[in-house]
Amino acid sequence: MARRVVTLPGDGIGPEIMAPTLDVLGRLGDFEFEAHPFGGAAIDAHGTALTDETLAACRAADAVLLGAVGGPRWDTTDPAAPRPEQGLLGLRKGLGLFANLRPVRPLPALYDASPLRRERIEGTDLLVVRELTGGIYFGQRAREDGRAYDTCDYSVGEIERIARVGFRSARSRVTSVDKANVLETSRLWRETVGRVHGDEFPQVQLEHLLVDNAAMQLIAAPRHFDVILTENLFGDILSDEAAMLTGSIGLLPSASLGDEGTPGVFEPVHGSAPDIAGTGRANPLAMLLSAALMLRHGFGMQDEAAALESAVDRALESGLRTADLGGDATTEQAMRAVLEHL
Ligand code: IPM
Ligand code: MG
Repeated sequence: MARRVVTLPGDGIGPEIMAPTLDVLGRLGDFEFEAHPFGGAAIDAHGTALTDETLAACRAADAVLLGAVGGPRWDTTDPAAPRPEQGLLGLRKGLGLFANLRPVRPLPALYDASPLRRERIEGTDLLVVRELTGGIYFGQRAREDGRAYDTCDYSVGEIERIARVGFRSARSRVTSVDKANVLETSRLWRETVGRVHGDEFPQVQLEHLLVDNAAMQLIAAPRHFDVILTENLFGDILSDEAAMLTGSIGLLPSASLGDEGTPGVFEPVHGSAPDIAGTGRANPLAMLLSAALMLRHGFGMQDEAAALESAVDRALESGLRTADLGGDATTEQAMRAVLEHL
């Protein structure tokens, strides 16, 4: 039976990298794709970034593949105006996708594309496990009498479930990142992660790092990290920083997962790149690698996922470079290079 995938191409380069990715998926399995407007495209069509109908379609699907959202056209500081990012947040909350996985593994072929020296990044292979439906992103916020506030709030249960994802994903070590010297939520985080570790995963090594130090260690000694387990806002920031180890954010995929039986959302970490949208120069590799994560985590298609990942690796090894990597390959040339190695 065909696996049902809702596609949300979104804005900017989103649709340009989504279309060829679906062609590649079609060669790897039996899928039924159903596209829905999302982000800015949905604001234009329906006045909201995520319609009830789209959310219902995502809930009923086996997996969701997302391009990117946003663009200058919808940029506004008017709190009442709809924003494309509300689609992302609504989807995460609506599907209960509390675990965001962002693997970072600079390829030997691209060591010289990183702003860091080769000796420093060599051998780096880490996974950011970011809590995605709690913290300051979803706490109470308001603006009143010339002030504004955003509240950061976590329950023990929310911390326990993401901690389990972190420990299960680790090969050897979990680095839990917080700001326990200042924040109460961080003290609860540290205590809870420590308890889950002692009770359920004593064989995994656990260390705690303050977020400012973690930001520094990520550049000073990236090889040290295996799993970085952290809350929503810290994970947002640290995952962009970690992305630069690979030389380009155009290479990083992500998986957002909920409880067993919930469809996952798979999307590149990068944005909609409005500056190059429509030029045919977008790097499709993060989208392809996100499709590989969908095959692995969404459908248990380990072999097909590995085949797609290794085709991307080998295309880069044989010299493929899009503009973000200092080359001039177009989206189409990049896709052809990957297909040659698939
Ligand atoms: C991300 C993005 C989003 C986030 C924005 C667009 C709301 O930066 O997925 O990392 O902050 O989570
Ligand atoms: Mg981000």
